[in-house]
Amino acid sequence: MTRIFSGVKPTGHLTLGNYLGAVRRWADVDQRRADALFCVVDLHALTVDHDPARVRRLSRQAATLLLASGLDPRLCTVFVQSHVDEHARLSYLLECVATDGEMRRMIQYKEKSARERERGGSVRLSLLTYPVLMAADILAYGTDEVPVGDDQAQHVELARDLAVRFNQRYGHTFVVPRATRPAVAARVMNLQEPTSKMGKSEDVGPGIVYLLDEPDVIRKKVMRAVTDSGRDVVYDREAGPGVANLLEILAACGGGDPEALSGTYASYGALKKDVADAVVEVLRPVQQRHKELCADPAYVEDVLRQGAEKARKTARPTVDEAYAAIGLLPAG
Ligand code: TRP
Repeated sequence: MTRIFSGVKPTGHLTLGNYLGAVRRWADVDQRRADALFCVVDLHALTVDHDPARVRRLSRQAATLLLASGLDPRLCTVFVQSHVDEHARLSYLLECVATDGEMRRMIQYKEKSARERERGGSVRLSLLTYPVLMAADILAYGTDEVPVGDDQAQHVELARDLAVRFNQRYGHTFVVPRATRPAVAARVMNLQEPTSKMGKSEDVGPGIVYLLDEPDVIRKKVMRAVTDSGRDVVYDREAGPGVANLLEILAACGGGDPEALSGTYASYGALKKDVADAVVEVLRPVQQRHKELCADPAYVEDVLRQGAEKARKTARPTVDEAYAAIGLLPAG
């Protein structure tokens, strides 16, 4: 069976973009057609200045929201990265296969480290080695497919390179994974800045709808979304990215096609109102389930404990094999 691995970094609250662009598909499609692991990658949240209590809180919240979004522990494995030692164990071996130059060429590293230096801050070494840890996340599980956004494609490419190189040098050990991007994924953009993605890392912002925003907050954010200078509702990503984004969100929430939907609106106001209603409705069951899960923290803990156990069992043999292949003496 195809193995799928993906991760959510607990550096911010999950957004509508995370949900419509990724998590909803993991729940509706991926966990049913493949052996899928979904991981709260908390070690990755330590690569930049962080508040320990906040990382802990966001990790628990991300795990709870994954379950609230429909990931079913009977169908897939949901767990927290730091609960499974194999990630860090394998990461070190892969650091012995990756090169310094390769790491410094990573676009995200270049951007984030430059930003940090501009602010006069120092760059954590883990920011440089982070893609190696991500490769370990993927390779430890014999992953075939990694569903990720475009911004992560280069990191998955690195995981492929490291797998091939390791296999060539030390004998076949790793499955060579590939990044997948679903054809129909919604690419939700920031409501205030419709040419950039609605990510979760920029922490606050009136252009970002969070999964746990109250309905009236969602409505406000949508009604204040930036639109284009024209007046007609047309679907054109280039000329009118604000309106196009709203049409895509509406299509992703209610089905239908953005182009076809554009013909049914006479004003931006009417479109926004329908988008707000649709988003509120799509998030309602997720929020309801989240509330129930928060009332039962022992259940969530239990799911994570069992998830980690299952993940450990899956990863252990592959990582042991890598330890032996690279020349380390077995512990016996
Ligand atoms: N780097 C990813 C991000 O920032 C998160 C991540 C970590 C991940 N490890 C992974 C994604 C493994 C897929 C597979 O979004």
